[in-house]
Amino acid sequence: MGSGLVEQVSKRLRKYLARKSCAIISDSNVAPLFADRITQSLVSAGFEPTLITIPAGEKSKTLQQAGAICDRMIAAGLDRQSFVVGLGGGMIGDISGFVAAIYHRGIPHIQIPTTLLAMVDSSIGGKTGVDTRSGKNLIGVFHQPSLVIDDLDVLKTLPRGQFNQGFAEIIKHAIIADEKMFRILQSWKAGTASALQRLIQRNIQIKSRIVAKDERDRTGQRAVLNFGHTVGHAIERAGNYRKFLHGEAVSLGIVAACAISVKRAGLPEDQRTAIVNILERFGLPTRLPPKFPRKKIFDAIRFDKKFEGGKVRFVVTPRIGTARITNDVTLNDIREAVKQL
Ligand SMILES: NC(=O)c1ccc[n+]([C@@H]2O[C@H](COP(=O)([O-])OP(=O)(O)OC[C@H]3O[C@@H](n4cnc5c(N)ncnc54)[C@H](O)[C@@H]3O)[C@@H](O)[C@H]2O)c1
Ligand SMILES: [Zn+2]
Repeated sequence: MGSGLVEQVSKRLRKYLARKSCAIISDSNVAPLFADRITQSLVSAGFEPTLITIPAGEKSKTLQQAGAICDRMIAAGLDRQSFVVGLGGGMIGDISGFVAAIYHRGIPHIQIPTTLLAMVDSSIGGKTGVDTRSGKNLIGVFHQPSLVIDDLDVLKTLPRGQFNQGFAEIIKHAIIADEKMFRILQSWKAGTASALQRLIQRNIQIKSRIVAKDERDRTGQRAVLNFGHTVGHAIERAGNYRKFLHGEAVSLGIVAACAISVKRAGLPEDQRTAIVNILERFGLPTRLPPKFPRKKIFDAIRFDKKFEGGKVRFVVTPRIGTARITNDVTLNDIREAVKQL
């Protein structure tokens, strides 16, 4: 992690991988910005990179696109001794990781995340995959990256909204695991690169610590990372994945999860208010547009979750810095919380 790392990718790679040929998988926005410099760095160090660029946007994260990438890798002569570099945001991280996991039954995956969200969230934890028509991330594999290179300089070209949505996951991490970071965020001023670097580092630690306890998402410990995501995913879906960015939908989902936490987990009212204020401070939405069809959100939740006896597993926060899973939340609690949004 640092700055100016894009130019030094080959140096870092040589340290970790004794392999030569690789695919650099990127999207149509990111490749024109950074792929040249990375390719040059690799070629001059004796690597043999093949650049594969796919259209930017979530609609590229499909099984079909993953298959097309594999075909191009085969045509380029890449084999079991090759590796994959994912250069882009979470979309590229997920599909390039999936390709690395299945190509010749698994080759190393290097991530160069280029969005704040990808740095603090999607590049950590080894979840890779693609979407289907029925929903997001339904097909995938756990495949941990061999190396993640965070170059803070790449964030300079990121549009403001994309930058802010990364803070939804950062604020989520603070709520579920780090009360001190929550206070840092309360007095956060956009400013020095070193402060941002420390913040990203802290988020990587939080996420990796939680993932390490339950790498394959089996015991429920990893599931606390889904705080705000039950309602958040439903809002994303209800807006046809166009109306809200993921982080914006999660921001609204966090507001709903806090209302439910007040009711079911004893979250103090003043802490709920502090959370809403901090989301607003980072330019994230905390209210739905008045005309937004709330019914579509309930439909999406019912589609997404199994309500056993009218209840669902839900992540609540009893106080800032802590989170737990409960089975006490009803569909009605969720409906009320969404109505208040
Ligand atoms: N694997 C996980 O654990 C995990 C966790 C969270 C999210 N995700 C996935 O991550 C994806 C969302 O990630 P995202 O928000 O990074 O989306 P994204 O990868 O689609 O990137 C957002 C947009 O920003 C552009 N962009 C990326 N970097 C840029 C840069 N440096 N300068 C200018 N433009 C740039 C992209 O081309 C794209 O248009 C979703 O597919 C989600 O499912 C995965
Ligand atoms: Zn998320």
